Amino acid sequence: MKFDVLSLFPEMFEPIKTSIIGRAQEKKVIEINLINIRDFSKDKHKKVDDTPYGGGAGMVLRPDVVYEAYNSIQDKDDAKVIFLSPKGSRLTHKKVLELSKEKHLILLCGHYEGIDQRVLDEIVDEEISIGDYVLTGGELPAMVLIDSVSRFVGGVLGSGSSEEESFADGLLEYPQYTRPDDFKGKLVPEILITGNHAKINKWRRKESLKMTYLKRPDLLKNVELSKEDRETLENLKNECQ
Ligand SMILES: C[S@@+](CC[C@H](N)C(=O)[O-])C[C@H]1O[C@@H](n2cnc3c(N)ncnc32)[C@H](O)[C@@H]1O
Repeated sequence: MKFDVLSLFPEMFEPIKTSIIGRAQEKKVIEINLINIRDFSKDKHKKVDDTPYGGGAGMVLRPDVVYEAYNSIQDKDDAKVIFLSPKGSRLTHKKVLELSKEKHLILLCGHYEGIDQRVLDEIVDEEISIGDYVLTGGELPAMVLIDSVSRFVGGVLGSGSSEEESFADGLLEYPQYTRPDDFKGKLVPEILITGNHAKINKWRRKESLKMTYLKRPDLLKNVELSKEDRETLENLKNECQ
């Protein structure tokens, strides 16, 4: 999968050169190209922004410079263009899965007050927000999107790694434990060291339901529950009363 990132601050993308996403690039499972919008300014001082028409605080990125940067992407016609924006629809597990099926994404990062609306209308297919708060730029949201989407691209994670995680089946993941067996007098749940996988799976499902009930009960509305799941939840509700 290919990501082209249009940004004024490509140097901010160091974190996604390391760890799992860094290795995925080395293996050429994903490709991330950083394009500096400033390189496309025709101004002798490399100016990319100007004051907003109608007045108000801050600076707005010029449409012509952003368009030139976008136009420099040779194979742009087969790509989906996403503008990272607090005005966009929220990035969710469902959206991440949907985007992971794409072959080529162009991510446009705004900065300062944002980007002139005319170029957004011209090139953007979708606006995506990472939450109801305002950041100084679209670079962190673009990295969040690249990281979350790449995890579902074949060959990025080990097999099965993304299937049991939070949100995959609509629930939060069960708690995880590792060595030592005894940490400050707190023991690893005994069931996990029995080697009985049927029982371990049953325990994990219960813990997953419990975690979701206690931390994100809103998620339970959209989960397909078995008779046993419903009994578990009933018991939990009674325990918590
Ligand atoms: C300071 S913000 C501009 C906010 C804009 N004036 C507004 O009030 O909606 C600068 C840039 O950061 C990015 N950004 C800020 N918050 C974001 C969020 N929650 N999700 C995605 N991108 C965001 C966008 O690319 C935006 O153009």
